[in-house]
Amino acid sequence: MKIVENQSLLSYNTFGLDVRAKWFTRVKDVEVLVSFLKKNKRPLFILGGGSNMLLTKDIEALVLKNEIKGIKIIRDFKHCVHVEIGGGEVWHSFVLWAIRKKLGGVENLSLIPGTVGAAPIQNIGAYGVELKDIFIKLEGIELASGRRRIFYKKDCLFAYRDSIFKKTLKGKIFISKVVLRLDKKPRVNTSYGAIQSVLDYKKIKAPGIKDISKAVIEIRSSKLPDPAELGNAGSFFKNPEISQTAFRKLQREFPNIVFYDLPNGKVKIPAAWLIEQCGWKGKRIGHTGSHARQALVIVNYGGATGEEIKAHAYHVIDSVKEKFNIKLRPEVNII
Ligand code: EPU
Repeated sequence: MKIVENQSLLSYNTFGLDVRAKWFTRVKDVEVLVSFLKKNKRPLFILGGGSNMLLTKDIEALVLKNEIKGIKIIRDFKHCVHVEIGGGEVWHSFVLWAIRKKLGGVENLSLIPGTVGAAPIQNIGAYGVELKDIFIKLEGIELASGRRRIFYKKDCLFAYRDSIFKKTLKGKIFISKVVLRLDKKPRVNTSYGAIQSVLDYKKIKAPGIKDISKAVIEIRSSKLPDPAELGNAGSFFKNPEISQTAFRKLQREFPNIVFYDLPNGKVKIPAAWLIEQCGWKGKRIGHTGSHARQALVIVNYGGATGEEIKAHAYHVIDSVKEKFNIKLRPEVNII
């Protein structure tokens, strides 16, 4: 593996922050990584698409950029296939591959930035589908030992934007391959209101996976800023879940509150609504601010530092806490 010193990470994080890595290398081959890790003494840091992290300082470690590629069908059943995807594949390229092959299951997850290897870490989700719905297993390489480990669905402890890889195994496992189940006769999921509205508007009565993907791309592009134009990491915060009792109390005070009842008896409140009510939507402070079309997104207008963005995020957290007594939790990994 070719190791570069003092590498700028500017083009490797979607917030567009110019921090440096003490060392940097591209991982293209699992075998090479495994034998490297068996001798390695340096601290390590795994990087995928850099689309879900806020870098507030230089990385005093060897950055392993996941570039493990390849998409192949490894099992072919009557109704579905199991597809093995390299952790360094770009997530949306894989979605487009699935649509070309007429395989369903990931069309609602179109245009999510980042890599396939990062997808299980936060159990990516959008428009009524989460990665866990189609997840079979993954291969991870333990950084400390170079040992290969297989994680099945139950091992991953998937939850809303969460998994074991954000908890006890945080930063410890390099995800080399992911295996997902895709359907040969896909049933489309239009449960998310915005998708149905786009289909109605286009007068599409019997949508296929391509129509769903196009609708999702349209919705996302209309609300979420393109990181190539405006630095950001998608939703900065998770949508909070609160108890029925806390919710009823809040609803008495704020009758217009937007909410979703969850199967677990809790109530989900869109963080974007809470942030907008506190007056942050479209507000710019220095080089950063909350996005004008989706209050959940924090943007870098150019020249912001990670610390500046973090400070803005904490102002938002404080004001939501003060007005609603709800503590927002960042979804983005703050380094
Ligand atoms: N809303 C506002 N103000 C806003 C935006 C939204 O009040 O500026 C309210 C509206 O009532 C709207 C509701 O919030 O109906 C929900 O908004 P939206 O459909 O945009 O979804 P979200 O809850 O804000 C979540 C995910 C997104 C995902 C969408 C669609 C999280 C943290 N975010 O956003 O994921 O694309 O649903 O499924 O769960 C990401 O993780 O980076 C991401 C973009």
